Amino acid sequence: STGGEKYRPAFHFSPKAHWMNDPNGMVYYNGVYHLFFQYHPGGTTWGPMHWGHATTRDLVNWEEKPIALYPDSLGTIFSGSIVIDKDNTAGFGKNAMVAIFTHHNQKIEEAKTGLHQYQSIAYSNDEGETWTKYKGNPVLPNPGISDFRDPKVMWYEQGKKWVMTLATKDRITFYSSPDLKAWKRESEFGANLGAHGGVWECPDLFPLKSNGKTVWVLLVSINPGGPNGGSATQYFTGNFDGNKFVPNSTKEKWVDYGTDNYAGVTWSNTGDRKIFLGWMNNWQYANQVPTKAWRGAMTLPRELSLASVDGAYYLRSLPVKEVLPSLKPVYKKGTVTIDKEIDLSAYAKPLDGKFKLDLGLENTNNFNIILSNVNGQKLIIGYDKKNNSYFIDRTLSGETAFEKGFAKKHSAPRLLTGKKINISLILDVASVELFADNGLTVMTDIFFPGSAIETIKIQSKAVSKLSNLSLSKIDQKQLK
Ligand code: FRU
Repeated sequence: STGGEKYRPAFHFSPKAHWMNDPNGMVYYNGVYHLFFQYHPGGTTWGPMHWGHATTRDLVNWEEKPIALYPDSLGTIFSGSIVIDKDNTAGFGKNAMVAIFTHHNQKIEEAKTGLHQYQSIAYSNDEGETWTKYKGNPVLPNPGISDFRDPKVMWYEQGKKWVMTLATKDRITFYSSPDLKAWKRESEFGANLGAHGGVWECPDLFPLKSNGKTVWVLLVSINPGGPNGGSATQYFTGNFDGNKFVPNSTKEKWVDYGTDNYAGVTWSNTGDRKIFLGWMNNWQYANQVPTKAWRGAMTLPRELSLASVDGAYYLRSLPVKEVLPSLKPVYKKGTVTIDKEIDLSAYAKPLDGKFKLDLGLENTNNFNIILSNVNGQKLIIGYDKKNNSYFIDRTLSGETAFEKGFAKKHSAPRLLTGKKINISLILDVASVELFADNGLTVMTDIFFPGSAIETIKIQSKAVSKLSNLSLSKIDQKQLK
């Protein structure tokens, strides 16, 4: 397709029209995954925030719903979360959906008192179709912190209480509540730890099991100060006892080393399964990216798990298994040798820029995967043996002039040192998601090729042995 829709992804969520940023209120209920999102229905740049709404049953096909939350006299609706109140602790009804979000008040902001952000709640008794704001809002007034936002709430079973993880400028503050209305400050974390190149935003706290042991993960988005510039999401692993988060390492870790995965958090009410999704964009240029009717898309939903590398815990992120049924291999080989180059262009051309490429390398040699179109614009993804790092180079990938820092090469350290490398690439028109070493190193980058990617070449100077190479169509029948 051409014109205004040419960068529209097929199997990543993007709103039909207007501006979108952070995912909000992700909750699973009754077979449906709900996604709410920061939405400006009045334009294609950031503006007065509403909560948009979309749903999916299979994490692949999305349906956009009417706007869920509108600004009111307390302010516009910034980021937040949703819980299912199974025991009716708030008194809004058994199994009510309760949204906990930040009200951002522009008039107060202009008065420069720093008191313009506070937390409020709203509830729905019809699975997110209609919402009622609580009359007692705000439930957590501003204590004098200018950046006081993005509440992520979870039920802490051991203590039989709700726990709110809140971004408070350069640190995280934890609060607890019996009923989602009265909140008590518990502790704070991070003023002297982790990355501090920008303000802390959009946290998430959740437990994951590793060999039967429970490890707590704290995600903290930061803008700017990401490893490749602009906004990105760091994380800490440690222990949480209902009062305090104690990290088990002070080493910096990043959810994603690409430039385009921000403000990501996990779905609530999914049991032990933890599914993450981020905004596939970067504040450095989000308001300038060259799409027309809409701006902003989400990453693929990713399953999070823990891996232990050299005695330290790391997050592993992989595309959710729900994506697999939509894959139809068009090329598949076991052992092959790259002697300078393998050209998969004949298989790639009909895929129209939407595919998954899987590659297993037996010996860690430099390699480049060159994705290009008829205009000669190209995206290069590869491995650099000397630095033991992966990279995505979008310098010559198409439209880049809209922001001076966009045309760059980004790199990510490889955590493993073994000889065998495996990577999966997922391409959806204008985005690439790289999952290396079974999701231990992840990079997400957007790019804007003037026409669809249709050639795939894999190059290696030294002869390299592959243990597998496959290219799959992401089946349109599964998609809208
Ligand atoms: C993160 C963020 C949040 C805030 C929202 C406003 O991208 O800045 O901290 O709630 O966007 O749209």
